[in-house]
Formats: sequence, structure tokens, C-alpha cells
Amino acid sequence: MINNSYISDAMTIKLDNKLPDYPTFKEGIRRAPKRELNLTEREIKLALKNALRYVPEELHDVLAPEFLEELMTRGRIYGYRFMPKDRIYGKPIDEYKGKCVEGKAFQVMIDNNLDHAIALYPYELVTYGETGQVCQNWMQYQLIKKYLEQLTDEQTLVVMSGHPMGLFKSHKTSPRVTITNGLMIGMFDNPHDWANATAMGVSNYGQMTAGGWMYIGPQGIVHGTFNTLLNAGRKVLGIAADGDLAGHLFVTSGLGGMSGAQPKAIEIANGVGIVAEVDYSRIVTRYEQGWVSKISSNLEEVFALSKEYMNKKQTISIAYHGNIVDLLEYAVNNNVKIDLLSDQTSCHAPYDGGYCPQGLSFAERTDMIANNKHKFEELVNISLRHHFELVKALVDKGTYFFDYGNAFMKACFDAGAKEIAKNGVDTSEGFIFPSYVEDIMGPMLFDYGYGPFRWCCLSGKAEDLRKTDHAAMEIINPNRRGQDRDNYIWIRDAEKNKLVVGTQCRILYQDALGRRDIALKFNEMVRNGDIGPVMLGRDHHDTGGTDSPFRETSSVYDGSNVTADMAVQCYVGNAARGMSLVALHNGGGVGISKSINGGFGMVLDGSARVDEILRKAIPWDTMVGVSRRSWSRCENSIETTIEYNKITNGEDHITIPYVANNDLIEKTFKNYGK
Ligand SMILES: NC(=O)c1ccc[n+]([C@@H]2O[C@H](COP(=O)([O-])OP(=O)(O)OC[C@H]3O[C@@H](n4cnc5c(N)ncnc54)[C@H](O)[C@@H]3O)[C@@H](O)[C@H]2O)c1
Repeated sequence: MINNSYISDAMTIKLDNKLPDYPTFKEGIRRAPKRELNLTEREIKLALKNALRYVPEELHDVLAPEFLEELMTRGRIYGYRFMPKDRIYGKPIDEYKGKCVEGKAFQVMIDNNLDHAIALYPYELVTYGETGQVCQNWMQYQLIKKYLEQLTDEQTLVVMSGHPMGLFKSHKTSPRVTITNGLMIGMFDNPHDWANATAMGVSNYGQMTAGGWMYIGPQGIVHGTFNTLLNAGRKVLGIAADGDLAGHLFVTSGLGGMSGAQPKAIEIANGVGIVAEVDYSRIVTRYEQGWVSKISSNLEEVFALSKEYMNKKQTISIAYHGNIVDLLEYAVNNNVKIDLLSDQTSCHAPYDGGYCPQGLSFAERTDMIANNKHKFEELVNISLRHHFELVKALVDKGTYFFDYGNAFMKACFDAGAKEIAKNGVDTSEGFIFPSYVEDIMGPMLFDYGYGPFRWCCLSGKAEDLRKTDHAAMEIINPNRRGQDRDNYIWIRDAEKNKLVVGTQCRILYQDALGRRDIALKFNEMVRNGDIGPVMLGRDHHDTGGTDSPFRETSSVYDGSNVTADMAVQCYVGNAARGMSLVALHNGGGVGISKSINGGFGMVLDGSARVDEILRKAIPWDTMVGVSRRSWSRCENSIETTIEYNKITNGEDHITIPYVANNDLIEKTFKNYGK
């Protein structure tokens, strides 16, 4: 007969049977709002059982009522009692226990994702993007750590939606961890069924690098935002190829996990930026970091200041404490000219607190989500429709608006602004405004394979990061393409721009072979003892790895952007080639059922084994995306694959599409049946 005593005896890696003290919650640490809870009585009981299966039976009497209270008041069981008592942050790798370098490296990354200075709601394990969690609860966190301490270089840890299934025997060249998050069976792949699954403790929203353990703080998006703004300026404002945004105004919203990168990026691009944010605590975080230089809740003052700096052609980033809709209303009513306009509220989850409707303060929004969700949803819809009208009025006056990957246009459409869809009926033909991927990032970066490659110096030493910056700079040829020149300047000035928050990491938008060469160089530096071990990875928001018709693959026009084959192939291909960590998620930055995205992590220990993996895996990870874009007839990608086939000379060989003549297609169609 199976009982808990046998079960406990059958495991050597498990949580202790000693009840941890209940933690105290520090004032000033942001807390996640109560999450949607629509469980039936049967499901609530299931949720309780599900949470209790992590802990020995001796603790169940105390924990059952505590977990139920958490579920009813917060919408989830986080298991706060199992939260570490000390501050969490990514410590130098040598301070972690482990049997292989990867096991220790992953602990650095997880702790960095939950660092109080980095995570959006650290107590609820949310790293960024309102709902993006490292794992579902603190029991999982504790158990994952225990597994990582025991992991050897011939085992793989399997993590399903934050749950560590266990260690399984594999090869020295296998991934040391495989992660999946939020993957749902097709007929249940919708926000409602997913919310129930997550409330029952069986699914996790990994966003992208939150559940993929590769978040590096807001720096991770500064480079992409900088590239986007600069290239938007080149595209619509007539900025010279080597010019900057001096004298131009960018207006947007959000100073959260990712959106907080916007003021820093506009300053690096030398423009003037105004960012609306309803949550004062997030403004303070960015201000104290030096990523935003002025705070005001007075719109007259905000726009007077921006005008002054535009006239002086000097840069400034201003945080407006208030709602973006109020700000845009002021701009429309007062005929303010805005050059570039976007939005980075968490519109992938507008009804879960991601979007604060006009008329509610941040505190009122939090209260209404908990106590009157229906009314809250109504207000979100009204606000989004009005928001859309204001954007339209500004665009009519010459503003360039772009959707910045937060599903803003989809959210407006869902809120009832059908006019935002090109055909006014559904979203199958896209939207009337461009997304930044369609206009900028797709054709100018992803098509060539440039994407958010990143690395973390696991020693925690700033000196190691400086050495890697210099090594990367030496590999870039600034005269090859405009993108390479931008990258060269980016990495040259990276230290000066004080981008590090948390561990010593760097982002650099590189193409496939550039990434490979930099990776090999870093591994050589580790081998020679110049630097400590390094963790390589990327944002999932990249050329390869992510199928997302409202974002990453919005510039794929052959009809295949409703498929997720590429993301899955990328994941499995990275695993087959031996990346240390592979991750595959549902949702990402646009919401459940709207994307499948994946990423990788690769630990550089200086070995020849790692060299071999880097040579094969790094180009694959990017070129799978370029080849897919090429096959869908993205012109710049076709050019890139032609060049790649030549360079690799048969070692890699990519199928390239023949291009059909448009007139022939028209003529054939016209003559059909005649
Ligand atoms: N473009 C990209 O590359 C990219 C990358 C990552 C994330 N995203 C998307 O951008 C969005 C934001 O990401 P994040 O990590 O910053 O999320 P976040 O939730 O940490 O930050 C969003 C911020 O918007 C503020 N906000 C909400 N409604 C507002 C309103 N009406 N007026 C003013 N401020 C308001 C919130 O208070 C919050 O601080 C997400 O949807 C995310 O998926 C885009």
C-alpha cells in the first residue's frame, strides 16, 4: 500500500519536513494584483492537493489552510512560506553549490531573474511583463535549486511549467536542462482555460526570458529599442545613416520591466522622450537607476521641457506620472507635434492589470481588479477604444505610430475598435498601423539574423564584462553594413552608458556568424583564464525561436505566420546540438495562444566540447529563423541565405524560394476557367 512514508523514502532530492518560518513582506516591494480565479469547488480542492504534493505530509495540516487563503486572496498558491529569507540576487558562481558548472550557472540566472532590483513582483516570482514567472511557486523554486545542486554533467533536469520532473540520464553533450512553459493542447489553448490551469498550479506563464531564466534586466531590451527608434528616425524622419534623433520627440508609455528601457534608449539615440507611467514606484526605480532624468505630473511642464530640449537639440527623458491616454488627449487638444509614438503598457494581458484604464489611479486599478473585475474590464475596453482614437488623430497630423510588440493593436481590436483591423472585421489581414517588426526590426535586422544575443559573466566581475565588451568589439567590422556600424558604436559605448542592472551581462544585436565568432572567442578567453565562465543566451524575441504572428513573425507574408513549426524546430535543434539550456513557451510578449517562443542558454567553461557545440548550435539557432524568413520570400533574408550557402559551402545548405512573377499570377488567375 502506497503511503507518504514510502514516497518520502523513495526520494533523495526533496523538500525538508521542517516548516520554514513565515516570511515578512517588506514595504515598498511591488506585489502582483490578485489574479483571476474562476475555479469550481472541485478545482479549488485540486489546486490545494496540487500544491501540497511538494511538501512532506507532516506539514500539510499547517499548509492546507494557508495555501487555501493564498488561493482565495491572491488567485494563486505561491507558497510564500518557502520564499528565501535573504535577499535574492545573482551571486558570483563560486558561491553556489553544484556538481557541474551548468548547475551552478543556472542558479545564478534564476536568482538574477528574481533579484528585488530586477523583478517586477519578486514575491510572486514575476520577473517582467506583468505575468512572466520564473516558476509557479516557491516550493518549485526550492526544489529546482536542490536538483541543480545535484545535477551532474551526464544528467538532464526536466522542468515543466516550473515543476522539476526530475533528473534523467543523458550525455555530456546533452542539454543540462530542458524547460517548457504554458504549452496547452489546441482546444484548451486560450486565455480562459490557461488561467484555470495556472490557478490549479499546473501551468506557468514563462513570458520569454522569465521562465527561460535568461532575463538580464531592462538592458536586455535597450539595444533593440535603440535600434528601433534610430531606424524609425531613418525611415520616416529623414535622419542620415550616421545621424541621431537630436531635435525629435518620442512619446510612449510604461516604465516597467521591459518598457523601462525606453527612456534610456532615447537618451542614447540623443532624442527627447516622454514616457507615461501610472505606477509611481516604477518611475522611482528608473529614476534612481539614472534611466530617466526628469519626473513630472504636470503636462504643461512636460511638454514645455520637451520643447526646450528639442530646440537645444539636447537629449532628455521625462517620466510623466499619469495615464498615457490623458497625455495623448493633451497633445491632441493642444496641437503638440509628436514625431514617433508607441505604447508599451502590458497589453498582452490588459484585463489582468497590464493596462490601467483612463480615470483610475494605479491604486484604484489594483483595488478594482480584486473587487470588481467585470467593471474593470469594461473600463479597460472604453479606455483602449479612446486610446486608439487619439493615436489615429495624431497619425492624421503626421505622427509615425508603431505597435511595439505589446499586442496594443490586438487589444484595441478586442476592446471593440474594429476599425484598427485592415479589413475592419478580423485580424487576418493585419492592422492599419505597422508593428515595429513589420516596418523596422523585421526587414532591417531579423532578415539578416541580427538579434538579441547576450552574455552574462558568471564571476560577477565588472572587469570580466569589460574584457568581453572589448573582445566583441574587435570581432565586429563596422564597415560591413550599417547594422554593424550601429553595433560597434553600441558595444564601444556600452560601459559608459551604465546599462548593467543585476549580474554583469551585456546585450548585442549580432547576426549568426557574428554570434558564433564572439562565442568562440569568449570560450577561448575562459580557457586561457582571462575571464571566469560565461552564460550565453538570447531574448526569445529574435530571428529564430519565436513564431508570433502579432510580433516576431508579423513580417512573414506567405501565410505561414499562423504556424509554430519553426519555434519547435529551433528548440529541438538546439537540444540536439547540445545547448546547455533549451526553453519553449506559449504566449511570450503577446499572450497565451498568440505565440510559441523559445530560447537557449549555453555555459562557456573553456572546453573543446563547448567549442564544438558553439560551431554547430549558434549558427543553427539564428539561421533556422533566417531560412524560414527567406522561404517566405522576405527579400533581405533571401540575400542573406544566398550568402550563407556560399560561405558554408555545402556544410549547411538552405533551400531558397524561386520567385513567381506577379503579372503571371494575375494573368493566370484572370484566365482561369475562360
Ligand atoms: N518590443 C519588445 O521588444 C518587447 C519586449 C518585451 C516585452 N514587450 C511587451 O511590452 C509590454 C510591456 O512589458 P514590460 O515588461 O515593461 O511590462 P510591465 O508590466 O512591467 O510594464 C508595463 C507598465 O505600463 C504601465 N501602465 C499600464 N497601463 C498604463 C497606462 N494606461 N498609462 C501609463 N502607464 C501604464 C504599468 O504600470 C507598467 O509599469 C508587454 O506587453 C511585453 O510583452 C515588448
